[in-house]
Amino acid sequence: MTHEKHDGSAVSVLGLGQMGTRLAQAFLAAGHATTVWNRGAVKADALVTQGAVRARSAGDAVVASPLVVVCLPDYATVAEVLGPVAAGLRGRTLVNLTSGTPEDAVRTAGWAAGHGADYLDGAAMSGTRLVGRAEALFVLSGSADAFARHRAVLAGLGNATYLGADPALAPVYDTALFGLAWGALAGFHHAAALAGAAGVAPADFAAVATGHMPFVASLMTDHARQIADGRFPDDDGTVAVHTAAMEHLVETSSAHGIGTQVPRLITDLLEQAVALGHGADGIAAVSRVIGGGEGDV
Ligand SMILES: NC(=O)c1ccc[n+]([C@@H]2O[C@H](COP(=O)([O-])OP(=O)(O)OC[C@H]3O[C@@H](n4cnc5c(N)ncnc54)[C@H](OP(=O)(O)O)[C@@H]3O)[C@@H](O)[C@H]2O)c1
Repeated sequence: MTHEKHDGSAVSVLGLGQMGTRLAQAFLAAGHATTVWNRGAVKADALVTQGAVRARSAGDAVVASPLVVVCLPDYATVAEVLGPVAAGLRGRTLVNLTSGTPEDAVRTAGWAAGHGADYLDGAAMSGTRLVGRAEALFVLSGSADAFARHRAVLAGLGNATYLGADPALAPVYDTALFGLAWGALAGFHHAAALAGAAGVAPADFAAVATGHMPFVASLMTDHARQIADGRFPDDDGTVAVHTAAMEHLVETSSAHGIGTQVPRLITDLLEQAVALGHGADGIAAVSRVIGGGEGDV
């Protein structure tokens, strides 16, 4: 793709909802000249007082910068907004931080290529409050050249992580990490309720629990290696031992009037692993129940 010289701002943000506004604020805070556009113009007012340039139309916003960031409710809206102004994308990079499916990402990447634009699909993983801080994770995939070219500007959003050339990777990671976060949060809510039944304040429990998370994170690294190797050493206990321990958690929860949904889900996974002959294996053998092709039993 040819890359024209652009004399306007460094980045344009189209869609100034909760997320788009935070994106524009982060670019401004990082010192990048930023052009903004929103369907309802009033949402740009505060950003203009913070130094943003208001574009009069989506088309003007597109041609104002070499980097065009769009954050709208869904891909149908992206097509509705960008379709009529697609010619302006030629030679620019489109970064789409709208939530969607892998199929949406691949289709939009093809559409952008057809209009002479580089494309990065992306997802904001850390809500709106952290945007602009180093711990705010953004996953991006698509054109490696475009990511390299705009890396410094994208870093203004936080931890902008490039996943690879396949535009589908960003939505895949988006949904996978969403599930991971919810798995951890479901475990937390169950644990906090159990501790609460013993009179422990949620904040006191959270202080200890968050200190325990680096250990849990280290297990993910270990388990990833074991999944790749297809071998499940029992360094952290066997599936059979954990099944018995998890049944105690179900019983203790019931005895305290706490919901048993979370430990029953885990007991179910462990029992399936036992039924598949993994009782004497390490606990990462549950991966064979979920993703290892051995299926439900
Ligand atoms: N908010 C979060 O915490 C969060 C976190 C991760 C990912 N995301 C993703 O970010 C994307 C945007 O979310 P959001 O929370 O910013 O949404 P939002 O606050 O509801 O804002 C939606 C934006 O889209 C615009 N819009 C809606 N329909 C439009 C149309 N037909 N034409 C032009 N503009 C239109 C709205 O403009 P008007 O002001 O004119 O209505 C508004 O600026 C979504 O895909 C969401 O899943 C959000």
